[in-house]
Amino acid sequence: YKDTETEILVNMIPVGSEQATRAYAEAAIRGGAAFINGIPVFIASDPTGYWPKRFFDAGLPVLGDDVKGQFGATILHSALTSLMRDRGIIVEETYQLNVGGNTDFLNMKMEERLSSKRVSKTKAVTATLDNGDRYIYDGKVRIGPSDYVPFLGNTKVAYIYIKGRSLLGFPVELDVKLKVDDKSMFAAVMLDVIRLAKLSLDRGLRGPIHEASAYYFKHPPKPVRSPLEARILLEQFITGKQRNTVIENIVSYTQ
Ligand SMILES: NC(=O)c1ccc[n+]([C@@H]2O[C@H](COP(=O)([O-])OP(=O)(O)OC[C@H]3O[C@@H](n4cnc5c(N)ncnc54)[C@H](O)[C@@H]3O)[C@@H](O)[C@H]2O)c1
Repeated sequence: YKDTETEILVNMIPVGSEQATRAYAEAAIRGGAAFINGIPVFIASDPTGYWPKRFFDAGLPVLGDDVKGQFGATILHSALTSLMRDRGIIVEETYQLNVGGNTDFLNMKMEERLSSKRVSKTKAVTATLDNGDRYIYDGKVRIGPSDYVPFLGNTKVAYIYIKGRSLLGFPVELDVKLKVDDKSMFAAVMLDVIRLAKLSLDRGLRGPIHEASAYYFKHPPKPVRSPLEARILLEQFITGKQRNTVIENIVSYTQ
């Protein structure tokens, strides 16, 4: 990458490509490129801190993980659960079933490649709920790719169900069907993210750019409680009002 003077490396390979994604992250660091991780392997949000520190030490920004489509199932589902929480509805159980007909969905028929994808998609929704991890422990949430339907091609269909309780326990139930073109949902987001990676490079930022990641990724380094919160964080980052990321990163990665 050094020879090609690549500034930004975008990782968009099949779900479950754990080793290949780490190899590309390593290549970005060695080649001096910013890294955008569009898939559910935890690099920007690596819970061990290894990859965040590697990018920080290399003086390079990393944005991720797992792209959230422009108006896909994740943003719609988390907006609905966030709205219900905001309006005092106690969510009791929820699922999001997704089907599609492209190679991504064919690949995701292999359940053993899916563990990080399920974590990423599920946490994007439970992060908006009070005590969100409880839904996972209690088996009250099920989210993920559900089947491959070849004739759908690039069309992705998501079925979202949420059951909750209002005042005095009265039931509230929601069933939503969303149909979108999977690739356009991705492309719209990636155009923005590439610009933000360039902005981060120009500002000399290094390590995970969490202010920009929460809006665009399902599994950001720092999850937010609502799409609105992610939006505010992003706007503050772009206009430069956000507190200095470099200083915050220095504190967290040199401890
Ligand atoms: N809406 C979206 O399109 C969307 C949203 C979020 C995340 N993603 C994720 O992005 C990834 C790519 O999605 P897609 O629909 O383009 O999948 P795809 O199967 O159409 O394309 C994957 C490409 O990666 C190539 N590839 C496989 N292994 C590789 C390797 N080791 N090095 C380099 N290239 C390799 C394949 O040849 C193929 O061209 C998937 O992990 C998907 O879940 C997509």
